[in-house]
Amino acid sequence: MKTVAIISQKGGAGKTTIALHLATSAALEGRNTALIDLDPQASAANWSDRRAADLPVVLSAHASRLAHEMKRVADMDGELLIIDTAPHSDSAALEAAKAADMILVPCRPAILDIEAISNTLDLVRTTGKPIYVVMNAVAPQGNEATEAADAIADLEVNVCPVQLRQRVAFSRALIGGQSAQEFEPGGKAAQEAASLHEFMCAHLNLPTSETQRGAA
Ligand SMILES: Nc1ncnc2c1ncn2[C@@H]1O[C@H](COP(=O)(O)OP(=O)(O)OP(=O)(O)O)[C@@H](O)[C@H]1O
Ligand SMILES: [Mg+2]
Repeated sequence: MKTVAIISQKGGAGKTTIALHLATSAALEGRNTALIDLDPQASAANWSDRRAADLPVVLSAHASRLAHEMKRVADMDGELLIIDTAPHSDSAALEAAKAADMILVPCRPAILDIEAISNTLDLVRTTGKPIYVVMNAVAPQGNEATEAADAIADLEVNVCPVQLRQRVAFSRALIGGQSAQEFEPGGKAAQEAASLHEFMCAHLNLPTSETQRGAA
């Protein structure tokens, strides 16, 4: 089972949005996927309650129960586990980071957000796990993303080549327990979410329908 932790100590960076979209993309691919929600706000678990489809499985847990819940998912032949974490929670975020094969750090492209990710990076770097900053809610027009990527480069961390732009579909989809791919198939948000999923799978060596098409 591959595990991806979504971590940012800053509130509202896009952790839950990214966690839900990655988990849903994987489930739509037919991959046995679970999401563990470590945030006491339980936004991901609440989304699952609003969702008609059974997959991905979403479990709400306290960080002290993470290892136990991970074993439960693995015992259910889980292939992919996404962990959504709470802001301002060093110890829980560290538990998630230690458990992960890959860590994604969502960051909005504003100076205050970029400055704030240093704390998160200091925390997750102690694990030695691969880390990618994912630029989220980037203005659809202008060069905000390029400027932000330059500023992040100074932090000597990998920046994910896929960015999510500020798109209404990312937030509206969640109201009905959906992802952007389900809410507006073929829309720009759906394409960006799919690209981020491809990037994650490539890093984890998980085949996708896209890579299999390319190999055929
Ligand atoms: N790319 C995007 N486009 C449009 N809206 C977005 C995007 N990313 C996030 N949002 C919206 O921004 C808000 C915060 O996003 P989200 O809840 O995913 O952040 P979070 O990091 O999980 O927050 P918290 O730290 O409180 O858990 C939500 O209302 C969400 O719908
Ligand atoms: Mg959240």
